[in-house]
Amino acid sequence: MPQRPYVIDQMISAKAIAAKIEELARRIEAEFKGTDKLVVIGLLRGSFVFIADLVREMDLPLEVDFIEASSYGDAMESSKEVRILKDLRGEIHGRDVLVVEDIVDTGFTLHHVIHMLKAREPAKLRTIALLDKPSRREVDFAADFIGFDIPDEFVVGYGIDYAQRNRDLPFIGKVRFTEEA
Ligand code: IMP
Ligand code: MG
Repeated sequence: MPQRPYVIDQMISAKAIAAKIEELARRIEAEFKGTDKLVVIGLLRGSFVFIADLVREMDLPLEVDFIEASSYGDAMESSKEVRILKDLRGEIHGRDVLVVEDIVDTGFTLHHVIHMLKAREPAKLRTIALLDKPSRREVDFAADFIGFDIPDEFVVGYGIDYAQRNRDLPFIGKVRFTEEA
């Protein structure tokens, strides 16, 4: 798909993200205090930077696993049908689980993934998203921990892509098109 020219305006700095991750890590440590059976599950691919920084900041014994759910393709609109492209390697029955997502938009992805994971009967299941766009919600879903509420803008960076680009930016920026469609 041909891309219209765009620039990226910084919205959340790398420093602000790092400070937020410290705060979130303390809250998660309190939530899972005393556990020795935590599995932190990242949703590929957008959460790979966030989960890497988050688990290094958390002072808890844990394992890391990943799920890949189908996403946008290269478009900017969510497909309402969520498919699991890659399932967990490990079992979560009886385990404490933290699901890590980059951004909650319509809510379809996490709603579906959480429903699927609950059926496997984890002891405890919590969700964290770095970003939330509450104004875009289409299903009743709220993450337990949120880094930043943001307005209805298309964002990239810190793991998050536009048509697979810009995941490597150290900050969160918003996409601004420089030509009319
Ligand atoms: P939801 O199912 O609509 O909540 O979509 C969540 C997924 O859509 C996220 O995991 C992202 O992959 C993607 N997404 C939502 N908003 C954005 C955005 O602003 N930029 C890039 N990807 C996004
Ligand atoms: Mg995603």
